[in-house]
Amino acid sequence: MRAHVELIHENDYIFHAGELPFGEGRILERRLSTDEEDGSSSLSLHATADWGRSAGIAHADTEFYVVEGSLIYGGRELGAGGYIQVPKGVPMDWIKIREGSRILHWREYGDAGFDPLTSVTETDATGDVTVVDATTMEWTEATSVGPLTPLYIKLLHRDPKTGFYTRLIRAKKGWTDHRLAHHPCYEEFYTLGGRMAYNFGDIDEGTYCFRPAGVKHGHFIAETDIDWIIRSDGELTNWYTTSEWVKWGGHPENYDEHNHAHQPVISTLPVRSRSRGEWSGDGM
Ligand SMILES: [Fe+2]
Repeated sequence: MRAHVELIHENDYIFHAGELPFGEGRILERRLSTDEEDGSSSLSLHATADWGRSAGIAHADTEFYVVEGSLIYGGRELGAGGYIQVPKGVPMDWIKIREGSRILHWREYGDAGFDPLTSVTETDATGDVTVVDATTMEWTEATSVGPLTPLYIKLLHRDPKTGFYTRLIRAKKGWTDHRLAHHPCYEEFYTLGGRMAYNFGDIDEGTYCFRPAGVKHGHFIAETDIDWIIRSDGELTNWYTTSEWVKWGGHPENYDEHNHAHQPVISTLPVRSRSRGEWSGDGM
């Protein structure tokens, strides 16, 4: 189970030593979201020196996305926009991250476990390794429902069995939606550039959200062109709410129900980091 994180800026978070077994060099991680039940994690890696790891098998579906700098996978160098996906159990080639690079790293349905390849390694896992350079891909118009200008996507990876996908999404300046949406799968974003205001706060480069299934979100206004990398654990169908209301509360025995400082908070208050400020409750 992952907590609802909405909204944090990664610069508000501390660094930990990168938990990447059998790696050599120096790399730090900021833990954007973790699942302490199965080890799934969304991490921002900062290489404070060259870092590398030999070929092996990861215990989780594994992804890397280059935000800044350079990552070499099995001899192929990827700059900003480079992306790799390796299914759990499928052998992964050697990897090297250059000093100063910033890399987003995800592990899904497993922990940081890693088994170096040996001459006798065998695996039953099947699936293809995906290596793409998003800068060479074209933006395609996404289908949408309602009175919207389009969003644009670059699909980086989709699991054919589960529908789990990772994609880049671009909203053009002025893109707006007054409705609140929710969907049956989780949705996670990391903002690569641009600005948008919405119900949970202000989005700018380096902001991050992990939104569990069913959480409403919207009232979007793109103040500039804005780019995200977005992941979902299934096919994403938007269900919309308009004219929203919340029936919540009770009789205040000994406090002022109209005094904001006295009001109890809703128990599903999301994780927020300091630079995002107060949340008005818009969108509940
Ligand atoms: Fe959504």
